Amino acid sequence: METTIQLDSHGVMAEAVGPEHGITVAEWEGIRPLLSAAQERLRARRAAGKLGFADLPLERGPLDVILPAAQQVRYRFDHVVVLGIGGSALGLRALQEALLNASETTRDRLDRRSMPTVHVCDNIDPDGFEPLLQQLDWKKTLVNVISKSGKTSETGAQFLIVRDLLERKFGSERWKEHIVVTTDPASGPLRAMVICEGLQSFSVPPNVGGRFSCLTPVGLFPAACAGIDVVALLDGARAMAEACFAASGCEGLAAQLAAVHFLLDTRHAKPISVLMPYRDCLQRFADWYVQLHAESIGKDGKGQTPLRALGATDQHSVLQLFVDGPNNKMITLLDTATVNCALTIPRTDEPVFSFMGGRNLFALLQAEAEATRIALREAQRPVLRLTLPRIDAPTIGGLLFAYEWMIALLGELYEVNAFDQPGVERGKVLTRELLQR
Ligand code: PA5
Repeated sequence: METTIQLDSHGVMAEAVGPEHGITVAEWEGIRPLLSAAQERLRARRAAGKLGFADLPLERGPLDVILPAAQQVRYRFDHVVVLGIGGSALGLRALQEALLNASETTRDRLDRRSMPTVHVCDNIDPDGFEPLLQQLDWKKTLVNVISKSGKTSETGAQFLIVRDLLERKFGSERWKEHIVVTTDPASGPLRAMVICEGLQSFSVPPNVGGRFSCLTPVGLFPAACAGIDVVALLDGARAMAEACFAASGCEGLAAQLAAVHFLLDTRHAKPISVLMPYRDCLQRFADWYVQLHAESIGKDGKGQTPLRALGATDQHSVLQLFVDGPNNKMITLLDTATVNCALTIPRTDEPVFSFMGGRNLFALLQAEAEATRIALREAQRPVLRLTLPRIDAPTIGGLLFAYEWMIALLGELYEVNAFDQPGVERGKVLTRELLQR
């Protein structure tokens, strides 16, 4: 049984889709020294303690606090409400959807029957937030406020509303038993509040940016509360991290992904990168990828526009554009080699459907992914196929880290700072100014 993540990059090469749209052997050779230099620079930054996200899979210290705290939560509460946005929510959402919803986790799900439900509130539309607040049994609810800066308006507003609600229900002291804050260890208004009120808290390492923080308490604590095996998640991330650190040139998954994205954008006019999972449980991973790529690389007029689509659903939607519209995209099909599927399509004499009678439903999904790959290739559209051996915590940990390292490499190749977000910060400042007026 295959245990590693497989990348089929044949479909992005010139021999598959022609030299106008595909990467030539000369370009592939040419990118090697650039990647080696990028890897060298990242290694130096890591050694200088300036690449915090890269060390997260190797650090087990935080688990000594996270695991017992999560156990307490599972014992006492039925619901965990996470208040956070952007990097403080999307990684957790990806973990939840993959590791709690996939059919492969059914057996774990039975073990998790008594685990709290984790609700991630990453928007402030009252239509979503208010009904949740009304329906929860607050005696059995813990709120995890997550904001690295502690200054984000959306999370701040949610926190103030929930704090008021808790104070009215439980009084001026006991409301604190229902709050855990995850924020910077020393600075920001949330940290000040933690100190002043004596709230339970976790720290986000200062050298780890929001969208790279899934493997800090930002993602790990609520994931552990929900019963996700965060130790196995970190194990998978560590195996991938070690492979990334040792790689040079185009070796390894992350470097190959970086080379393909960069060359297709800068040499073959593919300013759009679509990630198209062929599993429902990977849609949130695609959302996380979109944020990671856009917010890290979209700077100084540079960067691909990342998008997500879903197979097979979007074969009946945007696929028409991908195959037949402007040839300005690269598509990554993300699927799994296996699934737990007990559904067999019944045999039928109906001529239109008889070809699939007796086949497992997953076999149809896999055939659709392969058909999409072939259709794109025939139309000379560059296409990658990334196949996970299965959905489990180590595989998802490895996949997350591979994409984080790819983005760090892309930052070096594009010569942009992958770790700041001036455009996002500007929006935060303007919101504050508008409400102050
Ligand atoms: O990646 C980032 O830095 C952003 O997406 C932040 O995560 C987001 O703006 C939320 O910021 P904070 O965690 O400070 O509330």
